[in-house]
Formats: sequence, structure tokens, C-alpha cells
Amino acid sequence: MHIKLCKRDGGARARDRPACTACHGAAMTGVSPAVPGLLGLPRDYLVGQLGAWQTGLRQAFAPDCMAHVAKRLAPADVAAVSSWLAAQPLPADAHPAPPTREPLPLKCGLSPQRSGGAR
Ligand code: HEC
Repeated sequence: MHIKLCKRDGGARARDRPACTACHGAAMTGVSPAVPGLLGLPRDYLVGQLGAWQTGLRQAFAPDCMAHVAKRLAPADVAAVSSWLAAQPLPADAHPAPPTREPLPLKCGLSPQRSGGAR
């Protein structure tokens, strides 16, 4: 389930809750300039951030795509995805991927890789 959440959440659910890699990069080291990496972060930090988006304590620039993603994660998903991410080794090159023109599956406030359509 955890790997599915991050990498292969395809099909009908892809639009509603896209895979983490669709925005955070295939290696999950982030995408320049505005999508942070997810590796090398402690499990408790990840649980904390996802929970903070769920409760509204953490907010990003609108449209806040991470709030959308986090609110679609069940408590068990938050725990599983955070444990899985925290257990992944950092790749030798942990830099964020270069900017891409690929549209993101959801609109995100600060990212220039916005999805198609009006903001
Ligand atoms: C539609 C694009 C998109 C998707 C899909 C997405 N993210 Fe994000 N995520 C972002 C953006 C953009 C930010 C930066 C938000 C900000 O400005 O604070 C972010 C930030 C985060 C952060 C905060 C990192 C930090 O250093 O504080 C975590 C944790 C996170 N995402 C986890 C996930 C997980 C887990 C998934 C998959 C279940 C996921 N994201 C899917 C776009 C996305």
C-alpha cells in the first residue's frame, strides 16, 4: 500500500490523489524550484506535516495542492507512507530534479509546473 501511494497510484484515483512522485520527482528528491524532496526526513516530521495539512495548521500558497493530497490520506496511509519514505535511502545524487514543463496533476501555488487550465 505504501509504495502504491507514492509511486503507482494510477487509474481512477490518479486525478483525485496523484502519486507523490508525480510532483516530488521520480527519485522523490524534489523538483526545482518549488517542490521539496521527501527523502532524508524523519518519520515523525513527515507524519507531523501531513497531519498539519489535514488540520489546516500548515498551509501553502493557494491552490494548496498538498492540503488536497493530505486530506485524502487516511490515518493508516499517513503512517504507512511516512514510515516507508523515512526508510528509503538517499540516492547518491540527492539534488532536486531540474524544472520540467510537464504539468502537475494538481495545481500548486508556488510551482511553475502548474497543471493545465485556469488557475
Ligand atoms: C500535485 C503535486 C503534489 C503531490 C501529488 C504531492 N505533493 Fe507533497 N508537496 C507538493 C508541493 C508543491 C509541496 C511544497 C508545499 C509548500 O510550499 O510548502 C509539497 C510538500 C510536501 C511535504 C513537506 C516537505 C517538507 O520539507 O516540509 C511533504 C511531507 C509532502 N509534500 C509529502 C507528500 C506525499 C507523502 C505525497 C504522496 C502521498 C505528496 N506529497 C504528493 C506537491 C505535491
